[in-house]
Amino acid sequence: MSLFNVYPLYQMTPSHAKMCYVYEKNGTKYLDLYGGHAVISIGHSHPTYVKALTNQLNNIGFYSNYIINELQQSVANEIKIQSKCNNYNLFMTNSGAESNENALQVASFYTKKSRIIAFKNSFHGRSNAALSITDNPNIKSKMNEKINVTFLDFNDKNNFNKEISKGDVSSVIFESIQGVGGLDEPETEFVKYISKQCKKYNTCLIADEVQSGFGRTGDFFAFQKHDIDPDIICIAKGMGNGFPVGGILIKDHIKSKYGMLGTTFGGNHLACTAVLAVLSTIKKEKLLQNSKSLENYFREKISLIKSVKKIKGRGLMLGLEFDFEASELRKNLIFKHKIFTGGSANKNLLRILPPLNIQKKHIDKLYNALKIELS
Ligand SMILES: Cc1ncc(COP(=O)(O)O)c(C=O)c1O
Repeated sequence: MSLFNVYPLYQMTPSHAKMCYVYEKNGTKYLDLYGGHAVISIGHSHPTYVKALTNQLNNIGFYSNYIINELQQSVANEIKIQSKCNNYNLFMTNSGAESNENALQVASFYTKKSRIIAFKNSFHGRSNAALSITDNPNIKSKMNEKINVTFLDFNDKNNFNKEISKGDVSSVIFESIQGVGGLDEPETEFVKYISKQCKKYNTCLIADEVQSGFGRTGDFFAFQKHDIDPDIICIAKGMGNGFPVGGILIKDHIKSKYGMLGTTFGGNHLACTAVLAVLSTIKKEKLLQNSKSLENYFREKISLIKSVKKIKGRGLMLGLEFDFEASELRKNLIFKHKIFTGGSANKNLLRILPPLNIQKKHIDKLYNALKIELS
C-alpha cells in the first residue's frame, strides 16, 4: 500500500534526535529551529521526559475516561500554578484541531447560538469546524461551508462591532500571534475591545493558544500580554513535546454536564505524564525567562543582517520577513547548513520555533548561515 500523498517531503530521514538536534542514520546532524512545527518545547528526548514516560508505560499507559485518572487533576493543578489562570476547568483532547472543535462546541452549547467570528489569515486546524474558521480556501471542502463564519480584519473595531452587535454570535476565536498565517498580531486595544464586547453580547471569547501557548512567547499564554481572561483557552503542540495531546481551559461560569464532551484517548495516562514532564521542565529550566532573553539576543544578532526587513513575533515564536520569497533560503538552510526552519502562508517569511531551551550558540549558527546565504 502506498501512502496518501499529501505532504511535499524534504528528502531526509531522521533516525534519532536529542534536545535541539536531529540526526540521520549516517550521522548527519541538523539544528532544529522549527521544533517540528512548534511542538518540541523542552527538547527532543529530554531525559526527564523519557524517564517519566518510560516509568508510566511500565505502570499503566492507557485506560478510558470512565475511570478516575488522578494524573489529569495533576495536569490541571500545574497548569493553573504556572499560567496563573484562575477559575478555569480542564478538558483534555488529542490535538489542536480537536481542542478548537470542542471549544466552539462548548461555546455553542453555552450561548445557544451558532455564528462564529474568526480573523483573516487564521489557521485553526483540519477538522470540520476548525477548517470553517480557517481562512484558506485551498484546504476547505464544500462541507466546511455549512458553518456560519464571518472573517474580519484584526484591529477593525467598526466592523467587529457591526457583526457582534447583531446578537447571533456564539464565539469569537483568535490567535494572539498568527502562526501559520505569518506572525501577525492584533493590537492590545483591539483585543481588550473584543473581550469587552464578547461579555456584552453573551459571546464566548476563545483564545487559540495551540501554537503560542506553554511558554513559547515568554508568557505562559500569548494573550496574557493583553490582560484579558478569555472564556475558553485552547492548547496542544508544545504541551506534549511530541506526545499527541491537547486541551481546553473553560471558565467557571460555563457549567459542565455529563456527556457534553468526550474522547477515547484524550487525557490518557501517557499523555498526562508527557504534559507533567513538560511542565516540570518549563519550571526547573526557567524556560519562560529563556524564551524572553533569547528573543532579545535573536533580535540583536539577526537584525545585523541587512536583508532581514522585519523580525516578527515574540519569545521563541519568531518570523524573519524578507522582500523576496524565502523557500530557496529555507532549502539552503536545511541542505547546506543543516538547520531546520519553517515556512508560512506569508511566502516571504521564515519561521523560527525552536525548543525553548536553545542557547545563544544556536542563534549564532543561524546568523552565520544567513550571513553566507544573504551576502
Ligand atoms: C494556532 C493553531 N491552531 C490549531 C492548529 C491545529 O493543531 P493540530 O495540527 O494539532 O490539529 C494549529 C496547527 O498548526 C495551529 O497553529
